This record gives sequence, structure tokens and C-alpha cells, in this order.
Amino acid sequence: MCGIVGYIGNEDAKEILLKGLEKLEYRGYDSAGIAVVNKEGVHIYKEKGRIASLRNVVDESTEATAGIGHTRWATHGPPSKRNAHPHQSTSSRFTIVHNGVIENYEQLKREYLEDVTFTSDTDTEVIVQLVEQFMKEDQSVEAAFRKVLSLLKGSYATALLDEQEPEKIYVGKNKSPLLVGIGDGVNVIASDAMAMLQVTNQFVELMDKEVVIVTRDAVTIKSIDGQTVERDHFVAELDASDIEKGTYPHFMLKEIDEQPFVIRNIISKYQDDNGQIILDEDIRATLKEADRLYIIAAGTSYHAGLMGKQLIETISGKPVEVHIASEFLYNMPLLSEKPLFIFISQSGETADSRGVLVDIKEKGYPALTITNVPGSTLSREADFTLHTHAGPEIAVASTKAYTAQMAVLAILACDLANAKGITVDFDPIQELSIVANAMETLCDKKETFEKIARDYLSITRNCFFIGRAADYYVCLEGALKLKEISYIQAEGFAGGELKHGTIALIEDGTPVIALATQDHVNLSIRGNVKEVAARGAATCIISMGDCAQEDDQFVIPPVHKHLSALATVIPLQLISYYAALHRDCDVDKPRNLAKSVTVE
Ligand code: G6P
Repeated sequence: MCGIVGYIGNEDAKEILLKGLEKLEYRGYDSAGIAVVNKEGVHIYKEKGRIASLRNVVDESTEATAGIGHTRWATHGPPSKRNAHPHQSTSSRFTIVHNGVIENYEQLKREYLEDVTFTSDTDTEVIVQLVEQFMKEDQSVEAAFRKVLSLLKGSYATALLDEQEPEKIYVGKNKSPLLVGIGDGVNVIASDAMAMLQVTNQFVELMDKEVVIVTRDAVTIKSIDGQTVERDHFVAELDASDIEKGTYPHFMLKEIDEQPFVIRNIISKYQDDNGQIILDEDIRATLKEADRLYIIAAGTSYHAGLMGKQLIETISGKPVEVHIASEFLYNMPLLSEKPLFIFISQSGETADSRGVLVDIKEKGYPALTITNVPGSTLSREADFTLHTHAGPEIAVASTKAYTAQMAVLAILACDLANAKGITVDFDPIQELSIVANAMETLCDKKETFEKIARDYLSITRNCFFIGRAADYYVCLEGALKLKEISYIQAEGFAGGELKHGTIALIEDGTPVIALATQDHVNLSIRGNVKEVAARGAATCIISMGDCAQEDDQFVIPPVHKHLSALATVIPLQLISYYAALHRDCDVDKPRNLAKSVTVE
């Protein structure tokens, strides 16, 4: 979490850093700061809150063409101006920004910095104070910086300014993402290419434990022991318009609307001219060879994983387990003889998932990452990657990435069945294009979902989603969406399980949104709706095709039963969106959250 940027060129560094940070706000947005350097010295501006608040305190008249910036998601110390980055060493000579967690910062304080007075509660300040400390040993800044980095345990993407060398930015990276952008007479750094597309689309990826010296005209990459490393740049295939809202009031609404295009894009990427599924032969062979698949994921991606299990087991007969990444290492199941690990992650950066990946790689097991960001940490470190092709997802609440993950999992399930010689009565490509059409119809019905949100969720403090079979998994996602952005306490429940405790919470007017899209459980879920209605709940039934009954609040156009979740989730995404809007919540940047969770 947290986003960092750096710029050294010929233009106004303040504006470029601020614009860059605006693009990184998805990584954290509780405080922000920039430091620019010129011949007079380093000028720091920081503020609690969003980049918009930071803009108000930046002195427009400061002229500088180099600097660093940071947007924070608090880990050590509460969100405040005091804890906002950049942080400085006691003499103010050195200034730093940092994304990550320094696990041994207390030990380093005790060992090297007993006499130093710290001015923040952060782990980060240790880095900059150590640089100053080691400079007393009469070495170069680069050597001191490398020595500090070699002592750090944990994760960092960090950039350091030295007041005495305003033409240089020192950069280090371990586990947290960081790119260096290359321009003509200008170079930049950023946690994500998106932040610096305004300057360049050519980037160099940094590897863990590398140190980089960035000047206006050169980028020198070194290993932590000082050996120079050569690396080619790559061109970021991002369209700047993909990361703009355009005419939409919120990224979330734009991303919900993009889902039909995303599904069609996936179809085009995973189908050849003969209508056959395109899949790397090594992935195919590894999947076939595995005797059990272990899906590891967090949040919304975990919910896609639950659907993935159902799809893969039903279509291909291969056993699958799904695990929450943060629990896996502590509640590890007995592993089969030939496991294959599948990491599902929109960002490809989730620290909990990476923790599992590192562990299972040490044990020698193969890993496949399904991600929206090829080149991300989980993608680089796994043996194989499948791209979800959803385009940048900016809103913190995930929408299009979720449906894209399920689409790719459906294709994978069919391919696996084909590879095993199982005849499947399900053409994923054809059925996904029906889903895309249904999604379009659903996205055109916004007024209906806005009305449902107004009628059921305007004043409530809680809400239940109930469903059975695949609908149950969609209920989990619907509840997560609603609580993430509207702060209504919401729970997704298996229809049959409600009466074993949770039904005690149903009072007069408690909203219960029921999904009835599965033929084989249609009658039983409707029975569960009756049970809560009899206890005063305000029930709202969303059904599909032949499952529909006369008084249902909304009927979704029919799609194949294996893919129902891809359509069913859209009403829930839109209901959550409008509920948050009616409650004046910040839809794209809900409180306390961040999109890319790079701490465990
Ligand atoms: C955060 C985000 C969620 C996301 C989860 C997993 O909590 O706010 O929207 O589902 O991380 O992220 P990933 O990038 O691994 O899918």
C-alpha cells in the first residue's frame, strides 16, 4: 500500500508529482506529501487527507525540477501530518518516502539510533536516520544507502533526496513494486506506471534488493553490493484514457459499465481463429498433471475463487480447494501429492497471497497467477500467468476484475476438461458472449437498481443477502461490495444456514436481498425468503429467466447456469453503488481501505 513517485527533469516538479500522486491514490489516501529540491534546499509540503488537501498547502512559487512524493495508507502511526511522508533526518540533509513495512525498525533504532530523537511514529523514519548515521562513517551517500538497505527486514520501495546533491534521487526496492520511467532529459520513478504516463510510457522494472541512482540523463541500476546491472526498458501498454473517468461521475460506475467489453475482450484473447481455446501448452500440461488445485486469494478475488472451484470441479472433475490467503499458512490443509497453486489477484501485489507464493515455491510446488496486472509481483514470481484483460481498475471496490477472473476460470475449466478428454456440453466462448449481452441489458437498467437502493437501503444500518449454490457465492460478493462503499453492515448468507443463528437479527424492515437464479434451489431459497418475511424483513428477490415469479423485484436475462454469477453480481454492484451515493459516501475511495494491499 502507499504510492510513491519521483521526478527529475526540466519542468515544474510539484505539479508532476501531485498529478502522479492523484493516479496513485488508489494505493492509500489518508495523508500525502511531496518534497522538491532546488539550490536553496529541500522544500516539504504534507497534509492529512487526500491529494486535494495537499494541493492547498503547496507553495506555488517554489521553483524546482526534482522531487519525490507519497500517498499513505497508515500502518505505523495514525494518519496525521506528523506521520505523513516525506520524512527527514535530524539535520534535514536527507529526505525520504517509503512504501512497505520495515519489520525490524525497533531493533534498528535500539542498535544504531539510541541518541536520535524521532519526529514521527513511522517505521520509515528509521531508514532516513540510518543514512545520516552511516554518513558519519565518512562514506558516500550511495554506500551509506546500500548499507542501510542491506540491514532492513521487510518490504520497501523507497526514494531518498540528498540536499547536497539536488541532481540525484537514490532509489531502493524490496518486495514492494517500483518502476523507473525513462524520458529524454527526464527520468521518473513510480509505484505504478499509471502515475507517470504523463511523462513517459517507457519503464524499467526493478528487482528486489536493487539500488538505483536516477539523474536527469541517466538511470544506474546496481545490486545491493554495488555491481552495475543492465536492463532493457519496456513500453507500458496503457492508454491514458483508460485511467480517466471521462464523463462518468465515478470510476466504479465506469468499471461496472465496462464489464460487457471486458468479457468480449477476454473472448478475443482466449480464442483462436478456429474457435479453439488459446492456452499456453505448459499451463495446460501442469493443470492436467496436478491432482488437486489450491486457489489462494483475498477479498473479491477470493469470491471469484469460490466460483472457480465450482466451475472447475463441475466441468473438469478436478478437485479444487479455495483458501483465504492470510489464513493459508496458519491453517494449512494437508496437501495432495501433486498440488498446483492458483493465485487470483486483481493487482498481483497482495502481500498475503505473496506470502503463500513464497512459501510454496520454497517447497517446490508449481504456481499459476491469474491477474489483471502481468508483470506484477505475483505474476513475476509464479511459474505461469493468465491475464484477465480487464484494463486498469481504479475504484477501490473491485467490479470488472471479479467478472473477468470468473470468465478466465470458466475458460480454464473447459480447457482442462478438453485436455482430460471429457466431453463438455458447454461452449465457454459462446456462453460468455451471451453473458456480455446480458450484462449490457443489466447496465441499462440503472434506474431500477437506484430505486431498489433507495427503497431498501437509504436508512438501514444492516442488510442481508441470501442465496444458495452459486448464488450464495455471489451473495458474499454483494455483501462485501455494499459494506465496502456504503458502510452498511452487510452479510452474505447461505439461505439454509440463516435459521441457525443469524435469523435472530431480522427485525421489522430489515432488508434481505435474495438471489433466485438457480433452478435446482429456486423453491428452497423462496422458502427461506418466506421465513424472513414472516419475521418482518423487507425482502427483495432478484431472479433469472425461468426461475422468475410474478412479484420478483427484478429478473435477470437468462445466461448459462455455469456463468450465472457473472450476470447476477451486476445488480448487486449497482445497488451497492447507489446505496453509497444516497448516503453521500466516497464511492471510489471508501474510508480505511486501499486497493493494493501490500502489507500482511
Ligand atoms: C483489497 C481491495 C479488494 C480486493 C483485495 C484483494 O482489499 O480493496 O477490492 O479484492 O484487496 O486484492 P487483489 O488485488 O489481490 O485481488
